[in-house]
Amino acid sequence: MSSTHSIEHIRARLASAGQEHLLAFESELSAQQRASLLAQIDAIDLEHLPELIEKYVAGKPDFAPPGKIEPAPYYPAPKPDGSQSGRRWDPQRFRSAGEELIAAGRVACFVVAGGQGSRLGYDGPKGCFPGGAVSGKPLFQIFAEGIRANQRRYGSTIPWYIMTSPLNHQPTVEFFQQNDFFGLEPDNVSFFPQGVMPSFDLKTGKILLAEKHEVATNPDGHGGSLKALFVSGALDDMRTRGVEHISYFQVDNPLVKVVDPVFVGLHATASDSSGEMSSKMLPKRDPEEKVGVFVMADGRLQMIEYSDLPPELAKERDSGGALRFNAGNPAIHMLGVSFVEKLNEDPRFALPFHRAEKKVPHVDVQSGERVDPSSPNGVKLERFVFDALQLAERSIVLETDRVEEFAPIKNAEGVDSPESSARIQTERAARWLQRVGVSVPMKGEEPDCTIEIGPLTALEPSDLDPSRVDGPIGAGSKIVL
Ligand code: UTP
Repeated sequence: MSSTHSIEHIRARLASAGQEHLLAFESELSAQQRASLLAQIDAIDLEHLPELIEKYVAGKPDFAPPGKIEPAPYYPAPKPDGSQSGRRWDPQRFRSAGEELIAAGRVACFVVAGGQGSRLGYDGPKGCFPGGAVSGKPLFQIFAEGIRANQRRYGSTIPWYIMTSPLNHQPTVEFFQQNDFFGLEPDNVSFFPQGVMPSFDLKTGKILLAEKHEVATNPDGHGGSLKALFVSGALDDMRTRGVEHISYFQVDNPLVKVVDPVFVGLHATASDSSGEMSSKMLPKRDPEEKVGVFVMADGRLQMIEYSDLPPELAKERDSGGALRFNAGNPAIHMLGVSFVEKLNEDPRFALPFHRAEKKVPHVDVQSGERVDPSSPNGVKLERFVFDALQLAERSIVLETDRVEEFAPIKNAEGVDSPESSARIQTERAARWLQRVGVSVPMKGEEPDCTIEIGPLTALEPSDLDPSRVDGPIGAGSKIVL
């Protein structure tokens, strides 16, 4: 690879793709750096690059909303008092079906943890971030405990697959090793990196150099997971273990149910589900809330990004005053193993790209100086997992409650921050405690304290033992159960 012949060959290929600047510093590199740079260049699909740049970097593909969009039907959330609104269904029946599958070892957990977490600005994989409202437990530990609690309850093994990216793979694996896998059997925890895409200069469409010997890259989006599950051998491993369904969640939500028997049961056994890909939804707070919504278009369930939903539809209300297009996307899915296998039968399988303008630090090819941009200078291309919904035959949606299952940590402060997450975690804990007769100090509508209930203590309110709470909870106190 380091021979002159290889360099000349690669230089010619780069030139025909308009990217010869990637070798601008080649003569300054050590043999090792040169070999590494050439290997990175070799991994880029140079042949199709000009077309890709034309479409997504130079151009901004217009989203054409499907002709006729209808609200997505969904299974309304089971209410704690057993009451129901909207479509009638039997949560208990599906819960039993899901529990059987979990107990038989047919369900695996899958967290996508390859993102760069740039909004949070945390130095390290986001899963290592202290997510517990009081304990400061890392997000990975909270999920590990959720898995342990479910394994204990169902007497089975729930293998856990963790998608990293080449940029955070090593620190993620080391974090688990240093923490004894948070009590999980290491054999049941697998890590695999997702693919990457080169990052492009916004103005010129040229690939940026992160270092003189390194192409600037970004992980190829959570949608890259559907390919990475296959390429990494994770799907084969699932087959060997007898796993049929995958519980998919994001790394930033400490309240997620790592596996939800009702959702598993609906996905795997409801007559309107093909068992391929299912989704949870959260009712949107208001028309302006920046979440994608599930819709029906051309007879298939689809997710439309908030920026692509025509504003007049976003505001439409039904006769009862509720938003018609209210099915917000919290990014919680079930995937059938055979569905992901089927997608990968075609070696060219890939979800479409989405374009994002971001700040990309790089080396200036003229001066060799490092540039740390203060405004977006680059284009990143990512694939989104929800685009696979349209590839499923019949896909169901289950409503869920925001306070019960959604407290994401995306930003350093404000909306979806550690602080707002802690507030929602407390709100859920307070609700659960009140349900078993423990009183919680309140200031108006909000709990006047911070409470965290770990998954090993309770997966749901009925697991709580009120006698474990020592005396009355004081105003302003912080407690972990
Ligand atoms: P986000 O859309 O919040 O992106 O990811 P992010 O990269 O983590 O954060 P920002 O935008 O830079 O602040 C949602 C989920 O998808 C995963 C993330 O790890 C998170 O669990 N993800 C995202 C991947 O696994 N790979 C990616 O390429 C992108």
